[in-house]
Amino acid sequence: MRSNDSQFKSKIGLIAATAGSAVGLGNIWRFPAETQANGGAAFLLIYAVCVLLLGIPVMLGEFSIGRAGGSDPIGCYHRLSPDKKWWMIGTTGIIASYLILCFYTVVAGWTLEYLTQSVTGSLYGEVSADVSANSATFSGIMTENISSAWSPIINTLILVLITFLIIIAGVQKGIERVSNILMPLLFVLLIVFCVVSLTLPGAGKGVSYFLNPDFSKVTMSTVVNALGQAFFSLSLGMGALMTYAAYFPKSTRLGRTAVTVSIFDMAVAIMMGLIIFPAIMSFGLEGEQFEGASLVFVTMPEIFAKMGGTQIWSIMFFTLLLLAALTSVISVAEVAVRMFQDRFKFSRLKAALCVIIPLIAISPLCSLANGPLHDFRILGMDLFTLFDTVATNILLPIGALLMCIYLGWFAPKGLMYGQLSNHGTFRARYAGLVLFIIKWIAPLILLTILVSQFL
Ligand code: TRP
Repeated sequence: MRSNDSQFKSKIGLIAATAGSAVGLGNIWRFPAETQANGGAAFLLIYAVCVLLLGIPVMLGEFSIGRAGGSDPIGCYHRLSPDKKWWMIGTTGIIASYLILCFYTVVAGWTLEYLTQSVTGSLYGEVSADVSANSATFSGIMTENISSAWSPIINTLILVLITFLIIIAGVQKGIERVSNILMPLLFVLLIVFCVVSLTLPGAGKGVSYFLNPDFSKVTMSTVVNALGQAFFSLSLGMGALMTYAAYFPKSTRLGRTAVTVSIFDMAVAIMMGLIIFPAIMSFGLEGEQFEGASLVFVTMPEIFAKMGGTQIWSIMFFTLLLLAALTSVISVAEVAVRMFQDRFKFSRLKAALCVIIPLIAISPLCSLANGPLHDFRILGMDLFTLFDTVATNILLPIGALLMCIYLGWFAPKGLMYGQLSNHGTFRARYAGLVLFIIKWIAPLILLTILVSQFL
């Protein structure tokens, strides 16, 4: 049972697990695509400002509520403000986490398929000597990999099963131990790719695309996208970090933890940019049409096909993606698992089953939404896009907004300062600034962003 499993064991493990939640497909798959769609370096800069100015304070808010409440998101609000309805914010979080879980496991399943095909070599079976034909080849493979009926479902379910096994192993023996192994591995892989990509001939052009801002391309939607990306990437807005913070020991310094995790998360995104853009330029692929998923699932295989040691690079790359995805999936799943444990006093196994069994039914529907069920639409979107949009663009900002309003205006006095200073054991000089941002700036910006989506 949880009694002796209610905290992370070591400082490093705590950071690894929390960074594991933050670093995910959001950094590796979504970030480069968003950067490209929003004009390169200017997006990067605005994203970095969003992380520092809003991301870190909101993360500190989640940490504070989580550690003070010591429960799942619903339970945290309930304990901190009993007799009030604030626990409903937690409900938004649980719903968002479930929606994210449904489509995120599907994308994670793709990475597994790509890894398998890299190992067997079938991904590169049809590579032609006429390299210009390869883009079409890999696009075709991608379409087949994600839109066929069975194989993506099977991969998704394998991933769900792995998540289940790690979750039921517990916080220390499951989540913490796995993060301790996977996160360093992920970092090593990233560094290897950075070195390789930056030493390719012509890499400089890619670096300057990525790092020289062109502000003429900045519009309101660039800012909205940068903020959305920052929140998604830092796992904010639905209580994932709140749930993890409930496992933080009393002595953990929340400020340091939030800064470390955010810098780490941003570093991974930036390294990913330094991998992808130089490689694209160096291999002369910049004229091709990239969007979203195709950047890692089409462009990267195309690049590997042109390099010596194709399969090895490909295996390493998709391992990287899979590791990043897995530690994030675990954190999203943990939110609902903890909820079942705390609300209904279920054992961890029973709670995990309650989360996983419906997932086994719903994830495949999200998977099929890219194939046979593509024409089944709600609000004009297929199921996969619907879940993504509702969770990422609507529920996450709403959850974060309500949390800031709660913390800034309605939470018990001194709650956040007490958490930031570990009840006065040291002076948290930045606390005033953080509270000011949570009380005034974050709600205003979040509200603007939410409203702007409906205009
Ligand atoms: N941050 C993860 C990523 O970048 C995804 C993720 C994990 C997430 N937990 C979350 C996103 C909670 C939003 C909320 O891929």
